[in-house]
Amino acid sequence: MWTHRHLLGIEDLSVADIDAILSRAEKWHAHSRAPERKKASVLAGRTVVNLFFEASTRTRTSFEVAAQRLGADVVNVSPALSSVTKGETFLDTAKNIEAMRTDVMVVRHASSGAPAFLAKRLAHARVVNAGDGAHEHPTQALLDAFMMKQRKGKLDGLVVAICGDIAHSRVARSNALLLGKKGAEVRLCAPRTLMPPHAEGLGATVRVVPRLDVAVDGADVVMMLRVQHERLAGAMMSTTREYGRTFGLNAAVLARAKPDAIVMHPGPMNRGVELDTRIADGDRSVILEQVEAGVAVRMAVLDLLFTTGTPAQPS
Ligand code: NCD
Repeated sequence: MWTHRHLLGIEDLSVADIDAILSRAEKWHAHSRAPERKKASVLAGRTVVNLFFEASTRTRTSFEVAAQRLGADVVNVSPALSSVTKGETFLDTAKNIEAMRTDVMVVRHASSGAPAFLAKRLAHARVVNAGDGAHEHPTQALLDAFMMKQRKGKLDGLVVAICGDIAHSRVARSNALLLGKKGAEVRLCAPRTLMPPHAEGLGATVRVVPRLDVAVDGADVVMMLRVQHERLAGAMMSTTREYGRTFGLNAAVLARAKPDAIVMHPGPMNRGVELDTRIADGDRSVILEQVEAGVAVRMAVLDLLFTTGTPAQPS
């Protein structure tokens, strides 16, 4: 049974919850591809608010497309144009938006825990975490899992290398938590200064592998991450060129992965830094398919939040 009112992190989800989202996403993925696609009505009359305090292209647009495709109305609030610039607090801003009888608050914020803070204090709105600091980005991990399952048929037993700025990456954290719960082998790879101290605590099957070629060796999935310069306090890495030479994915390194390995990236990517541009555009890359999967997964999440009490495996 799906019982959650909010989606705050992978940490709160059971394996059955994850399976419920992934299986419902399959339905919405097919629906989105149908030549005669009809607007669904499961969220008709609902208002979804995108409250984004950090930059976003994919996630914000994807939530907007997902909500509209389900029949909801969508409002986008950006702090640069709001009364936050006049000193209004985050909570007051959210409470005022909720007072308009809006139904879902999709929140992105630079502070870890900001969506959970709202979920505790709002009266009726559902809260969805669209990325909070270096903490979690649950819908990204869910769409990545959807993609891996589509291409590899399963998650259990897959070897997944996640490489880049692990320390600042909510994407890496949520992915490691999800893949750990689903029994995949996760290899986290980063320069020493960009690896958090307790990374292996994210799951029983999560390991730290300091060298890129070793992390990629025999992998089914290679996920590359951007260096989050905006979260780097001081000089934690040398030059971008040197980073690319040591931790960038090129053809020689990728050749060590399984012959049918796929390459993933949550975006935004820095071409030529964390991955060679020919790999980004090559036949192993599923980067744009991840974006497509993002809409289906967000449709599934919004759908489930309004159908509390439904079975984990919808027919
Ligand atoms: C990521 C994010 O914002 O956490 N992007 C995304 O949502 N797809 C990763 C990043 O900014 O590098």
